Amino acid sequence: MLEGRFITLGVTGGIAAYKAAELASRLNGRGAAVHVIMTRSAGEFIRPLTFEALTGNPVYTDLFSASHLFRMPHIDLAGRADVMVVAPATANLLGKLAHGMADDLLSTAVLAATCPVLICPAMNMNMYANQVVKDNIARLAQYGYHFVEPEVGRMACGHFGQGRLAETETIMGAITTLLAGQGDMKDLTVLVTAGGTREPIDPVRFVTNRSSGKMGYALAEAAFSRGARVILVSAPTCLPGPAGVETVLVESAGEMREAVMRFYPEADVVIKAAAVADYRCARVAEQKIKKDGETLILELVKNPDILAELGRNKREGVTLVGFAAETRDLEENARQKLDKKNLDLLVANDVTEPGAGFGTDTNIVKLIYSGGRAEDLPLMEKSLVAHRILDAVLEIRQNR
Ligand code: PMT
Repeated sequence: MLEGRFITLGVTGGIAAYKAAELASRLNGRGAAVHVIMTRSAGEFIRPLTFEALTGNPVYTDLFSASHLFRMPHIDLAGRADVMVVAPATANLLGKLAHGMADDLLSTAVLAATCPVLICPAMNMNMYANQVVKDNIARLAQYGYHFVEPEVGRMACGHFGQGRLAETETIMGAITTLLAGQGDMKDLTVLVTAGGTREPIDPVRFVTNRSSGKMGYALAEAAFSRGARVILVSAPTCLPGPAGVETVLVESAGEMREAVMRFYPEADVVIKAAAVADYRCARVAEQKIKKDGETLILELVKNPDILAELGRNKREGVTLVGFAAETRDLEENARQKLDKKNLDLLVANDVTEPGAGFGTDTNIVKLIYSGGRAEDLPLMEKSLVAHRILDAVLEIRQNR
């Protein structure tokens, strides 16, 4: 999502200016080209050199200076940006922006911006509570500026209240959300399933599989980064919910089926990366089963095949993508699933191959299209596999 994006980061003079260094570093680490504008008073709290070292780019402080990168920084830093972020934003900057004042490089560049602008205020709690500041924020919000509210906590002055700059993670999430509305999937709703379902045996035990959810979550994040509305139906995982994605947590195959069917009417694309348990216990014990006998026999009954049901009820215009986790005869088994479940695309992975399948950060997959074409992808990060799958989905939709 952030890879190759041009982000202009404005830093104003507040004690939280040092936190902007972490933000710049995190954005840079995620592949964004970060260009920093500092106000004169920001320079009292943190040196431009810090940002230069973290971003690898010159830092701009003066309205009238040019650089080897930009002839007119106030126009170029605004015009080239995919998103502009001001963190921290002081009450002074809010006041200037709300009244159209442009008397330094940062306020001029923000006024010249046509991209989304994200403002992250940080100031003393009494200043933040002041009605004039509230009015300025409300006015700017009306003009279409986006905000990340300051957090409540202990302030540098020792008081407790609302005014601390939001956590870097929260600001990163807001940036991601703003960038998301711009990609090649922006008109699509994508429904993704992830993780391994849990089929209860008794109140404390269940049957499951080795799925970590990484493949499905990578797909959800990739689709969201390309502008799609994403609904992620997730069986239990240890992964944090991806920012901006509507995540529905489920446990069993039955619950996953119910959630998928609920959102299916809204979906243009369905990608079923989840490892759904094929069987569940015929009877779930109400109490914890005691270890009385030498053996314990569980009777398992078949679960509904969610993907096959979607295939049987396929709507015009929907693209259905399934996965096949195989341990042998990869292509033959995968093609059977593609036909039987009426899919447009099947992503086959031989889960016995090192670096492929369950739990890994990478995967090795074969894309099999309904027309018969097959494409082998080499070992790559699951995030990249996800983008290749989405490329294939868009190609299928264009050629239909
Ligand atoms: O989660 P990770 O650790 O990242 O691992 C990724 C993965 C190995 C789980 C993923 O790459 C993968 O292969 N997912 C599908 C696993 C699977 O259940 O395959 P299957 O061949 O049993 O099922 C075929 C397809 O039918 C799948 O899309 C599955 O979601 C779907 N299915 C299966 C059974 C069922 N009752 N309902 C279903 O919808």
